[in-house]
Amino acid sequence: MLHAILMAGGSGTRFWPASRLSTPKQLLSLVGGASMIRQTCDRFGDLAPPERQMVVTNRRLVAAVRDQLPDLPDGAIVGEPCKRDTAPCIGLAALLVTRIAGDPDATMLVSPADHVITPPEAFQAAVRQAVALVDERPGRIVTFGIKPTYPAEIFGYIQRGEAIAAESGGAPVYRVERFVEKPSAATAADYLKSGDFYWNSGIFVWRAQTILDALRERQPKMLAHLEKIVDAWQTPDRQSVFDREFTAIEGISVDYAVMEHATDVAVIEAPYEWDDLGGWQSLQRRLGEDENGNTIVGKHIGLNTTGSIVRSDDNHLVVTLGLKDCIVVHTPDATLVASKHDEESIRKVVKELETRG
Ligand code: GDD
Ligand code: MG
Repeated sequence: MLHAILMAGGSGTRFWPASRLSTPKQLLSLVGGASMIRQTCDRFGDLAPPERQMVVTNRRLVAAVRDQLPDLPDGAIVGEPCKRDTAPCIGLAALLVTRIAGDPDATMLVSPADHVITPPEAFQAAVRQAVALVDERPGRIVTFGIKPTYPAEIFGYIQRGEAIAAESGGAPVYRVERFVEKPSAATAADYLKSGDFYWNSGIFVWRAQTILDALRERQPKMLAHLEKIVDAWQTPDRQSVFDREFTAIEGISVDYAVMEHATDVAVIEAPYEWDDLGGWQSLQRRLGEDENGNTIVGKHIGLNTTGSIVRSDDNHLVVTLGLKDCIVVHTPDATLVASKHDEESIRKVVKELETRG
């Protein structure tokens, strides 16, 4: 059966001051009304109903995630004691699904909880195709490739090989020649030129056993820690074992730990629009601009304001006069006023705030 696993433990900083440690990007509502995580779950449709959904997040976010996803069963929101990147999160989910939920042949749909994907029907069709590809060869890993538009250094790249004639039909499918996580800008530019690379969208379909075998081979220490956690899952020691063993894991993403070494990988050319919103300006591109080149969210009056993005989160009126190419974000306890040219500096500010505590 198909189980949907949401990875939701990231601590995005690029949407500060809307995003905070307690409200990272996955909990924000940026595009389309509901929070990113709510929209992610809704997108699964009939593929994986709430009984077969699991969210792995940071422990401090569990209550906020529960507010967003009240229909998930008890125990379906797992709170990690610390951030160790995506490989441990995925390994833990695979063990919980096979050993605690009792589905040793489970297929997993692993998805970030903070992406924009439209339309949902096209996404569901692609996932059905991925499941068929895994059923056809259970050791196979299926990825979803996005046609790159610029030499991004923040994504993984998938080089396609020969076409695979999927029995299921649908979008084009290729054997993966290689997977390269976050190459340099120069390498990314070469990939873009070659025309046979996709961006990795961070979404995977595989049998739980496949990813456990891969972790056993590449990350045996990590898997041993995770197995101890699951051994104690139904005992009174669960929390203390979870804390001790998970904290002892060395953090690494699944892209470096598994995908760069995997040999039996297919890529489906994503038949949908995809975006991993990287910050305020990418949100502006997604939301579109009015006749003055502005993107306004919330109460605002502007005169002689152009090319800007203004967001007010709490019914607070923001007035801008004579403003050009700026980002203004008002929240109840912090306000950002920045030139668009300095958007990258937001991360420095967040770091500085973290060190001040
Ligand atoms: N539970 C948990 N624990 N989730 C985590 C953790 C963690 O320690 N770290 C990150 N996540 C979640 C994030 O919330 C996000 O939903 C997802 O895992 C991916 O993590 P990111 O940190 O956003 O990864 P990335 O964007 O740098 O790179 C990945 O996604 C790109 C596409 O957006 C890679 O898979 C790239 O190859 C890919 O191109
Ligand atoms: Mg991301």
